Amino acid sequence: MEQIQFPKDFLWGSATASFQIEGAGEPAQRGESIWDRYCRTPGNILDGSDGKTACDHFHRFEEDVRLMEQLGLHSYRLSVSWPRILPEGMGRVHQDGLNFYKRLLECLRTHRIQPLVTLYHWDLPQRLQERGGWQNRETVDAFVAYAEILFRELRPWVNNWVTFNEPYCTAFLGHWVGRHAPGIRDYAAAVQVSHHLLLAHGKTVRLLRQTTPNAKIGIVLNMNSYYPHQNTEEDRRAAEWNYQAWNSWFADPIFKGGYPQEVLALYEAEGLAPRREPGDMALIHQPIDFLGLNHYFSETVSANPDVWPTRSETHPLGDTRTAMGWGVYPQGIHDLLARLDRDYQHPPIFITENGAAYPDHPAEDGLVRDPERQDYLARYLYQVHRAIREGVDVRGYYLWSLMDNFEWAFGYTKRFGIVYVDYATQARTVKQSGHWYANVIQNNGFVYDGAGQPAEASKANPS
Ligand code: FCB
Repeated sequence: MEQIQFPKDFLWGSATASFQIEGAGEPAQRGESIWDRYCRTPGNILDGSDGKTACDHFHRFEEDVRLMEQLGLHSYRLSVSWPRILPEGMGRVHQDGLNFYKRLLECLRTHRIQPLVTLYHWDLPQRLQERGGWQNRETVDAFVAYAEILFRELRPWVNNWVTFNEPYCTAFLGHWVGRHAPGIRDYAAAVQVSHHLLLAHGKTVRLLRQTTPNAKIGIVLNMNSYYPHQNTEEDRRAAEWNYQAWNSWFADPIFKGGYPQEVLALYEAEGLAPRREPGDMALIHQPIDFLGLNHYFSETVSANPDVWPTRSETHPLGDTRTAMGWGVYPQGIHDLLARLDRDYQHPPIFITENGAAYPDHPAEDGLVRDPERQDYLARYLYQVHRAIREGVDVRGYYLWSLMDNFEWAFGYTKRFGIVYVDYATQARTVKQSGHWYANVIQNNGFVYDGAGQPAEASKANPS
């Protein structure tokens, strides 16, 4: 048994995103987003669902904030829906949409919960997609204009802003794999989009510095750890290439002012390199106040010259899998933090997402027992703590997610919450892992059995 104690003032929170929980998706309530459109194409969403109602958080936010208070959260990470503020993406402001966020933020203030507000968690206004979306450089300025409205209107409530959530996903899942909106499959487009997202990030940071100098701003990057599948030179190189193509591709421009050389060289040779204008890299390379890190899983990588353009294949790593098929390998988060520390002069890091989906359901006594999630969280938190002990500056942790919600292409089939949502009645039930997390927050730590399994969870889940 080991008592894990986090540093004084460690920030404990939980995260959600607008499209995944809000609902209120009728045309009078918000403009169409690329996710509304994507959901309408049969076959895109596993259960054929959409975000029209989701968790109905739009109408139930007071109850949800009370739940956050009950769990003892210090901070809540939420995102703003761009088409709820600007139904056409620019121009006319939808006042009711703005008022919704003001009421939500006021409610958080009443309950002493600090907001961390993400400007973009994937719900681009469809009208902008029709003009080319993130492939069109003009979208960068449309984004900055949207950010300006939020900075001005929400300034009384918000001190901490995130420009983008996981630009990797918007760029590559949305424009290469096609499993996220807008569902495009064009590698060069994905690379171009990544550059525009980074540029929009940089311009928005500059705007905040000019208009609201006391507020803080950062970006949220999702990163995986990659290890060679076999201990060969080819696999070691393939693992490193993947690290650079998916992680450093976004972090290097921000912290070093340039794209990783090896990846850029390959893209140049293949005609995939992004078009850049003079001054772009300097805009992207600006000091930020914190780095948000989203981490869920690790992979091994094997070299495979037949796979274009990555010349490699990835395989889940870990002793068990979550309902997403993601390997559970807690050491991955430690290794990632250690490497970020080696690679960059970075600002304080917040884990802005970490968590797991499991097929939860309420038992006859009404309780939702989810020992695997508790086990996952304890093991990952142990590794975060280990990195902190070794000197990495991690200041807080946001669990994904506060409640079960719309998991993108998987619809409502994957439950990530520490609060169970019965979608038929919208009733919320705190899962056992939620009660455990409340305890962790209260004690600023937990007892870990040292063998990799928290005592209580391993008894309930002997496998
Ligand atoms: C991340 C997303 C978040 C959620 C989790 C499971 O990639 O940021 O919205 O879907 O994965």
